[in-house]
Amino acid sequence: MKTKDKVLRALLNHREEELSGQTMADHLGVSRNAVWAAVKTLQKEGVPIRALPNKGYRLPTTYDPLQASYFKKTLVESAPLWVYPTVDSTNDQLKNLARAGALHGSAVLADHQSAGKGRMGRSFYSPALTGLYVSVLLKPDPSFQVGLNTTLKAAVLAARCLEKYGAPPIGVKWVNDLYTSHGKVAGILTEATINMENGMVDTVVVGVGINLLPPAGGFPEDIASHAAALFSPDHYQPIKNPLAQDLVEAYRELLTEDQDHALLSEYRERSVVLGKEVLATMGDRKIVGTVKAIRDDGALVLERADGQLENLMSAEVSLRGDFGFGSNR
Ligand code: BTN
Repeated sequence: MKTKDKVLRALLNHREEELSGQTMADHLGVSRNAVWAAVKTLQKEGVPIRALPNKGYRLPTTYDPLQASYFKKTLVESAPLWVYPTVDSTNDQLKNLARAGALHGSAVLADHQSAGKGRMGRSFYSPALTGLYVSVLLKPDPSFQVGLNTTLKAAVLAARCLEKYGAPPIGVKWVNDLYTSHGKVAGILTEATINMENGMVDTVVVGVGINLLPPAGGFPEDIASHAAALFSPDHYQPIKNPLAQDLVEAYRELLTEDQDHALLSEYRERSVVLGKEVLATMGDRKIVGTVKAIRDDGALVLERADGQLENLMSAEVSLRGDFGFGSNR
């Protein structure tokens, strides 16, 4: 391991107070000058190391990068896990790996995506270091029926994981958005490939993107009205690695029947649209109606003003009230 990496690891593991150059030098068995040079290089690379005269060096708690070395041996041994500081899209990377034969449970994690993808061909804003981007590859048992409700279940598992790490209460907006009272904090994108010989789903990539902290300079204008961060920088404690580990572990079990019922009931409890009036957009078609139910297969049941029921499997839904009748991106 290079001195630079050792210095970074020491600073990441010692955030309560400044670490002096001499202490690090003694601990790492290098000269004080070597520590100083390593700090300079890291700072040039964008690592926000603060230097306090006569005290030493320290990292802010908001600097919370993924660390490949963190992940449980058992998790990595059962299926590979790739950790990137930056990647185009964790879903795309994992789909490429799936084509090359990656195993069930393989995962790609990143601190930043240069071409993050959202639903319906849109992009997903994935700034460096303030977010977490996780994709997990699933190879369902041929007897298991994979459907739209996969995304619903993935949303509930993500909400549970986030609340475990101190996030405020999380609601779900059909079909794939996670909200707090401040706005959209995370989104899920599930992509599947079908085996054309038997018509069965043979791989599923489930990806989640989470806004942990507000991005430097705020969210871009087109999403600023509804995007939000889960945590405030003032109270943030590093959670990214254990959170990512929990997400991977939870998603690996996503396509099993045992927890279907509980996850779908919880989805309904967390729903911010159930019983509410919404605008559903499907291409050029728009319907205003009240959400009467979310079916087990994931469909949204909408009652129009004329009393007709519509079962929607795919639509863009926006809510009047809290978030306005605006876009959900
Ligand atoms: C949406 O809001 O429409 C869904 C957003 C899904 C974003 C995640 S981030 C990890 C994974 N990789 C991607 O490119 N997209 C998903």
